[in-house]
Amino acid sequence: MKKKLLSIVLSATMVAGMLVGCGGGAAASADGGSAAASKGQKVGVAMPTQSSERWINDGKNMKSQLEAIGYEVDLQYAEDDVQMQVSQIENMIASGVECLVIASIDSSALVNVEAQAKEAGIPIIAYDRLLMDTDAVSYYATFDNKGVGTAIGKYIVDNSGATPDDPKTIELFMGSPDDNNAHMLYAGLMEQIQPLLDDGSLVCKSGQLDFESNCTLRWDQQTAMKRCEDILTGYYADEDLDICATAYDGLAYGCMAALEGAGYAVGTKWPLITGQDAELMATKHIISGKQTMSIAKDTRKLAEKCVTMVQAVLEGAEPEINDTETYNNNVIVVPSYLCTPEPVDKDNYKEILVDSGYYTEDQLAE
Ligand code: BGC
Repeated sequence: MKKKLLSIVLSATMVAGMLVGCGGGAAASADGGSAAASKGQKVGVAMPTQSSERWINDGKNMKSQLEAIGYEVDLQYAEDDVQMQVSQIENMIASGVECLVIASIDSSALVNVEAQAKEAGIPIIAYDRLLMDTDAVSYYATFDNKGVGTAIGKYIVDNSGATPDDPKTIELFMGSPDDNNAHMLYAGLMEQIQPLLDDGSLVCKSGQLDFESNCTLRWDQQTAMKRCEDILTGYYADEDLDICATAYDGLAYGCMAALEGAGYAVGTKWPLITGQDAELMATKHIISGKQTMSIAKDTRKLAEKCVTMVQAVLEGAEPEINDTETYNNNVIVVPSYLCTPEPVDKDNYKEILVDSGYYTEDQLAE
C-alpha cells in the first residue's frame, strides 16, 4: 500500500516536474532555480567511510549543494561495513526518501536493497563508484576511472627515468577488488607501463603484477603497509625499491611507513610514490618531497554533476551526460558523467589545488 502510494506520489511529482520543465524551459541545474520544485523532498546520501578525507568532502558537498536548492538530506556513512550500508539504505527507504545517492562499499552487495528501492519507485544515482549487477540505477556521476590509472602510468613512464639500460624496480599497490574503479585504474596503469615491463625498463621483483595479488581489500592503509613490509623484506634485501605505484593516498601512507621502517629516508633513497585523491596530507607530502604525485579529483564538481542527476530524476529534467558506453554494470550500461581527474605534483599543485580554491595556502602551510 505504502509502496503504491509512494510511486503514485513520485509519478505525480515527476509529471509536475516535467510540466515545470516544459513551461519554464528549465534544464536541471544546481543554481537554485528549481528550489521551489524541490522543496521538502528528501534525498538519502549513502557514503562509504569517514576514514578517508575525500568521502568526508563528498558528503559535505552533496549535502550543502542539495540543501541549497531546497532538498532535505539524510547523509549516512557506513565506515566500510557492508551490512551497515545495507541497513542505512533500508532505513532511508523506510523513512520515505524520494531519491538515493549511493557511493558503495562493495558495488555488488547492494543488489537486494536496490531492488527494494526500485519497487518503492525510488530512483538511484551511483556516486563515484558504479553499482554493479542491478537495473535499478538511473545515472552515474564519477571521474574517468581508467583515466586515473592512465595518468598515474604516464607519470611513471615520463618521470621515473626507467630505460632498458637503467632499469627501475616497481611494486604495485592497487585498490579494492569489490570496487569497479580499482579494476579500471589498474587497466589504465598497466596499459601505460606494460611496454616498459616488457623491455626490461621496469622490473617488479615480487612478480606481483596481476590484480589479484596486488589489490588491497577496502583500500586499507594497514593492509598496504603490511604487504609493502613483506615485499621489502622478501625481495628488496639487496636492491632498492624505486617506484611505489599506489592507487590511493591512503595506500601511499601505508607504503611510506613500511619504507621508513625498512630504513629508507626522503632525500637519500626514497622511491617515486604515486597516489590518488590529492588529500590535504598527501599534498603536504608532495610539497615536502615525501610523495611524488597524486590525482586531484574536485569533489565539488562531482557533487554538482550528481545534483543535476537528482534534479533530473525528481523533476523530469535532462542531466548532462558525457558517456553512454563505458559503464556496463553487467545488467545495463549506465548513462554517466565523467569528470576529469588531474595529476598533481610539486610543479603544478598551486595551479590545480590552490588557484581553484580547493585548498588555501594556509591549509597547506599548517
Ligand atoms: C575512488 C577513489 C578513492 C578510493 C578509496 C575509489 O572508489 O574513486 O577516489 O581513492 O575509492 O577511497
